[in-house]
Amino acid sequence: MVTAASRNGRVSAKIVGGVATSHVPAIGAAIDQGKTTDDYWAPLFKGFEKSQKWIKDLNPDVAIVVYNDHATAFSLELIPTFALGCAEEFPIADEGWGARPVPPVYGHPDLAWHIAQSLILDEFDLTIANRLEVDHGLTVPLSLLFGQPARWPCPVIPLCVNVVQYPPPTGNRCYNLGKAIQRAVESFDEDLRVVVFGTGGMSHQLQAERAGLINSEFDNRFLDDLVNRPDKARAIPHLEYLREAGSEGIELVMWLIMRGALNKKVHEIHRHYHVPASNTAVGHLILENDSR
Ligand code: DHB
Ligand code: FE
Repeated sequence: MVTAASRNGRVSAKIVGGVATSHVPAIGAAIDQGKTTDDYWAPLFKGFEKSQKWIKDLNPDVAIVVYNDHATAFSLELIPTFALGCAEEFPIADEGWGARPVPPVYGHPDLAWHIAQSLILDEFDLTIANRLEVDHGLTVPLSLLFGQPARWPCPVIPLCVNVVQYPPPTGNRCYNLGKAIQRAVESFDEDLRVVVFGTGGMSHQLQAERAGLINSEFDNRFLDDLVNRPDKARAIPHLEYLREAGSEGIELVMWLIMRGALNKKVHEIHRHYHVPASNTAVGHLILENDSR
């Protein structure tokens, strides 16, 4: 079991793991409707069994969930590049079929405000969200990792990234933001063990001529590079995501925030890749830090 960091003899929060996972809404519907053992879904959910045990054993104090809003809380009227949820609670959004029957998401305002201050003073121009409804981008990853508890096992700090309206942030910017989040967490004077989720992806395109596009070769290279060659993964330009991973493949830049929040060297605890779930190639990683 990893314990909280004690640097210079003082207690501080510490990042103890990274999770990457796709957030396809149909996965949430399959869970909510009891279909996880159906032929179509069983192979997908099998790949998360080890992850559910890992996170249960890890028992983190807080989860920072990097996700994107799908025109739910935000719209074309207001498009923050990075919005950090600093509220006590984040209601589950109704995306057109009623809110998902999952527990409310409780935040961690003390740590969230500390991160906001640290990031802004570190020259990342963050939007502070004190009211934020969360959609499938955040709730599906929670369900995949935590199952169907009566209450989520830890507070959640949502970090919402614009990947819907051009221009989204670059992968490099996202990686550097992750590094700044690591510094922010490690300068919080409380013994908290924090896990960071990067969500969305992998290859998928939901619209126009190339709807249904899946590129397993790109996805698997991305998984390898994200784990072992993050400097290569963070240099991928927008056009390459668009061309190779489809118009919604750009969601993968959010995985780079999670990766940046970890050390340069990590070990891969678990990997799962499954095609398709709805229109999407589902990818999943569990990472832990090696020494820096
Ligand atoms: C699908 C995938 C997404 O990432 C999303 O946000 C919406 C739909 C899909 O494959 O159906
Ligand atoms: Fe999405």
